[in-house]
Amino acid sequence: SDAAVVPALVIGTGYAGCVTALRLAQAGVDVHMIEMGLAWDTPGADGKIFANTTTPDQRSYWLRTRTKQPISNFLGFPIDKDVPRYTGILDAEEFGGITVYQGRGVGGGSLVNGGMAVTPRREYFGEVLPTVNPDEMYNVYYPRANAELGVTMIDPAWFDTTACYQYARVGRKHAQRSGFPFVYVPNVYDWNYMKQEAAGTVPKSALAGEILYGNNHGKKSLQQTYLRKIRATGRVTISPLHKVTSVAPASGGGYTVTIEQINTTGATVATKSVTAAKVFFAAGSVGTSKLLVKLKSTGALPNLNGEIGKGWGDNGNVMCGRANHMWDPTGSLQSSIPTAGIDNWAAGGTFAEVAPLPTGIETYASFYLSITRTPSRAEFSWNAAAGRVDLNWQTAWKQTSINAAKTIFDKINAKEGTIYRTDLFGVYKVWGDHLTYHPLGGAVLNKATDNHGRLHGYSGLYVMDGALIPGNTTVNPFVTITALAERNIEKIIATDL
Ligand code: FDA
Repeated sequence: SDAAVVPALVIGTGYAGCVTALRLAQAGVDVHMIEMGLAWDTPGADGKIFANTTTPDQRSYWLRTRTKQPISNFLGFPIDKDVPRYTGILDAEEFGGITVYQGRGVGGGSLVNGGMAVTPRREYFGEVLPTVNPDEMYNVYYPRANAELGVTMIDPAWFDTTACYQYARVGRKHAQRSGFPFVYVPNVYDWNYMKQEAAGTVPKSALAGEILYGNNHGKKSLQQTYLRKIRATGRVTISPLHKVTSVAPASGGGYTVTIEQINTTGATVATKSVTAAKVFFAAGSVGTSKLLVKLKSTGALPNLNGEIGKGWGDNGNVMCGRANHMWDPTGSLQSSIPTAGIDNWAAGGTFAEVAPLPTGIETYASFYLSITRTPSRAEFSWNAAAGRVDLNWQTAWKQTSINAAKTIFDKINAKEGTIYRTDLFGVYKVWGDHLTYHPLGGAVLNKATDNHGRLHGYSGLYVMDGALIPGNTTVNPFVTITALAERNIEKIIATDL
């Protein structure tokens, strides 16, 4: 085991981890980032770093021997297939009643996600982070997050004419014909690159169906934004394929962090121990919650308070498809990057994205991912007999989300004389209600921590990530996670260093 002392150790390299590491390094602090996934900087045998959605391979899934595709069926037929077990990019982590999709690798969720970069409407911010001052978020930290992440809006004139957004224009038409407000959804994808893809002058990514397993071009993941700046500081060490398994007070002060180095089949090849003055949990809502619940329950961090593991929500995610008439084709070429939304939050508690079905053939289907208001919150707990952390999610809780989504799609179906697709999630199954892409909560701000992420019970331990947010952001979460981390680390640097 290696003996080393670091001033700041960051667990995880997603949005919150990158914000934390960059700002600490810029303040002159040496930082060690620990990431259980791969670096995703080396091409595979096909010359590409990332696999395509149409041809998932070992790179696509985290330590599974069979794919678990979010849209599991096509025309009713299951489309999952066997793949070699490998430390791939997308984790379909299964808890009782819900599959939680997460990115694995240097860049976290930014590697796999759709890049939809949405700031919640200010009038709803009170239900997102009730103890945070909206003025500082909307005047300082949301603008900072949007600028660093490279968030931009599609050119509306191009949206109106390009073949690859016909599906989104159909979505807009149907929304507006039923009286729902249509909104463009900002994204971190490089729209000029996408225009060149459409013109055939550059290698295709969004227009080749790349998403979920990484984008080889076009998308500004954290690799192109925060991580570039992090490397430029020269103060940050990043260790991929290293998993934090324990954090406990060290006898001489600070914390002893236990880290398992793994190989690409997930086997532990070395166990290391690092002493860190400060430890920042940025392992994502699930990763941070699992670590803290285990450490509290097994005696490594017994003074963590009773809020640890609580307040977890799925951001009300639910998916569905609609079958259009033959005169409403959605197009055989569909950009994998969504940019159209239907905002019915005020009236129905739903923000729905018009999502692509990039199959390469005309499907006459409209597909949607809805984010809904939901009151239900689950709790993580330590299962001593099994030696793992469980989540007490109830499948029935998704009914609230389905009902909210129906406030939009029942009305559109009635207006258009259309029906739901029943072939995308099984046979005669309308709702994709078995999953979330947006895990939030488990170490809620101002409950498990103080109002800036300092864990109660231990000085020098911080939660920085989606675990702080109590279950719902009214829109896609990563801009809020980034902005909140910017807010909290600024305070921590000013007062705790
Ligand atoms: P994040 O999950 O990004 O990072 C945590 C990191 O910690 C991971 O890299 C993980 O491997 C690592 N880790 C965990 N445990 C560890 C341990 N014990 N030791 C070491 N490392 C560990 N959001 C959005 O706003 N717009 C969108 O379009 C989408 N779309 C989308 C699609 C899909 C398929 C997914 C899975 C997710 C999205 N999201 C999204 C959600 C978004 O990606 C997510 O909310 C953020 O990535 C969460 O950021 P965090 O910093 O909290 O953790």
